[in-house]
Amino acid sequence: MGGIVFKGRDIISIRDFSGEELLYVLSIARRMEQRPQPALMKGRIMASMFFEPSTRTRLSFTAAMKRMGGDTIGFAKGEVTSTKKGETLWDTVKMIEAYSDVIVIRHSLEGAARLSAEAASIPVINAGDGTNQHPTQTMIDLYTIQKEIGKLDGITIGFLGDLKYGRTVHSLAIALSHFKAKMYFISPTALKMPEYYLDELEQKRVTFHETDDVLKALKHLDVLYVTRIQQERFADPLEYEKFKNVYKVGPDILNGAKKSLIVLHPLPRVGEIDPALDEFPNAAYFRQAANGIPVRQAVLSLVLGAVK
Ligand code: CP
Repeated sequence: MGGIVFKGRDIISIRDFSGEELLYVLSIARRMEQRPQPALMKGRIMASMFFEPSTRTRLSFTAAMKRMGGDTIGFAKGEVTSTKKGETLWDTVKMIEAYSDVIVIRHSLEGAARLSAEAASIPVINAGDGTNQHPTQTMIDLYTIQKEIGKLDGITIGFLGDLKYGRTVHSLAIALSHFKAKMYFISPTALKMPEYYLDELEQKRVTFHETDDVLKALKHLDVLYVTRIQQERFADPLEYEKFKNVYKVGPDILNGAKKSLIVLHPLPRVGEIDPALDEFPNAAYFRQAANGIPVRQAVLSLVLGAVK
């Protein structure tokens, strides 16, 4: 596509991408899924720097790279690195860029990925920075919605759960603003979507509603995007206890919903989705997680200039 350049680019915030660019990533992901490329990354090394726990993101990036013939190095927790001896993130990144072609980083601090990108001359991909952003999860979410529903334009989505700390919600709401999506933000008041995100959506003329009652939104929804209450972000454990069981989505949610409703969740789930829902075709969250491979293959091959 004319004018779209990904080679050498960092993937830090979903705000850095236009709607056209996001659709382009999805088109490459589709190509990756339909026509696997087992040698595309031969001789390339991906470094994964995970300072926070992860199952899906770290392993799907690793699998994506390996399935394209590439190699990986990295660590799954900061404790095993020389940051434990006091080395700065900046210096750590300066070292790792000498050993690899692309860096994938997850960190508990907002801005850590942006700082890493400033330190590195190779592409840096944000795999989640604190409560801020998780842009490749958002690309997976968009890909899943497009694949399951057949479109992104004009959908109605309900975000349910911890909207204050849930970085995947923050990224996805901004991304969907390119596609005239209507949004319901469903949460207890204490965990509502931060005001600055709502202001941004208002400026982009997005239609949204806030409620604490999923039943008020349900019949309108094409997508119900459930999130866990983010225990690790609460300063006060008692506050977490207050909210940890506030929503539970099970098969009964399908009564009163559109027949075509899909339920998404970035996972892990910790009680907010009843496993009894899994057997219904509406439960798309495991298919969503599986889409991590083609989408992350697309992202890696684009920033490394292996596809155009
Ligand atoms: N969705 C997601 O980021 O999962 P992990 O925390 O397991 O990587």
